[in-house]
Amino acid sequence: MLPTIAREADTVVMIDQRKLPAQEIYVRCKTAPEVARAIKTMVIRGAPAIGVAAAMGIALGVRRSKSTGTQKLAAEFHKICELMAATRPTAVNLFWAIERMKRAFAESAQAGQSVDQIKDRLDAEAQAIHDEDVASCRAMGAYGAEVVPADARILTHCNAGALATAGYGTALGVIRGAVEKGKRVAVFADETRPFLQGARLTAWELVRDGIDTTIITDNMSGALMRQGRVDLVVVGADRIAANGDTANKIGTYGVAVLARQHDIPFYVAAPLSTIDLDTPDGRHIPIEERSAREVTHVGSSQLAPAGARIWNPAFDVTPHELIAGIITERGIFRAPYTESLKRAFEQHAGTLG
Ligand code: MRU
Repeated sequence: MLPTIAREADTVVMIDQRKLPAQEIYVRCKTAPEVARAIKTMVIRGAPAIGVAAAMGIALGVRRSKSTGTQKLAAEFHKICELMAATRPTAVNLFWAIERMKRAFAESAQAGQSVDQIKDRLDAEAQAIHDEDVASCRAMGAYGAEVVPADARILTHCNAGALATAGYGTALGVIRGAVEKGKRVAVFADETRPFLQGARLTAWELVRDGIDTTIITDNMSGALMRQGRVDLVVVGADRIAANGDTANKIGTYGVAVLARQHDIPFYVAAPLSTIDLDTPDGRHIPIEERSAREVTHVGSSQLAPAGARIWNPAFDVTPHELIAGIITERGIFRAPYTESLKRAFEQHAGTLG
């Protein structure tokens, strides 16, 4: 399986997703601020992977602390959490992972554990977040495979693969799950302007796995659907509101509208850690805006004239009514989402992190 991110004794190691597919190089972060910077600059990206990186960055930062008392350690810990929280606002897995680390710290401190024991506990919690994410993706893949026809042409947008998670992927997990069940799958990967996660990362992952892959630019999906060449759309998510409205990579909304126009089922695959019941609907999801340079340039080549204004929202919101189902590690949830998503958490209270 692809090594997206791993913790080693005094570093957090991640494959540099800005450099793929041309170069396969690894970035070694030695401090929490270095991990935060790696998240912000998209060395690592994808909602679940961002959560794992933040948790590992927090554990690393605390591990390196020289504080000898719990109170001083707690102050440092909270500063590191704030640093991580300021990296990327839309992916709710980031805040979910930080909350888990805060709970682990509080439980450990309340139990009167030593500084060294607290450090061990945080390392273990970060590793658990990593391992649970892989398990969730595999479960999602198994559930999602059921909605994939025996001979399927699937369109996906952005990269919701092994690189965007601790491994295996959410949307690409569904594709991998279908392939493992013996289905014949051909994938269309949207290029995904401006950061090109589809052309660079999704295609790289799928080709490595020997899955039939065709890259299209974002403006080609309408023509493809109109020609009857797409059976199913499956995408990932950065945050799913309580009513099912889903924030995902910019361009997802357009794909969903086109899918509806052509009667093609549009599925979202995401772990429960991406579902945010505290956000009532899509209008309340904060949307990150990124630098103009991502739009004006590809690598070092300038495409657009200086002086033009640039709008670069990293995500859009697909309204719940366009979504055929939300594939999670606990099964597939359907409309009305306000009820089904709430039930998903109630049923599993106590077993969820
Ligand atoms: O800006 P990115 O590359 O972090 O955006 C990633 C996406 O939009 C993914 O589809 C989403 O995070 C789901 S990843 C399993």
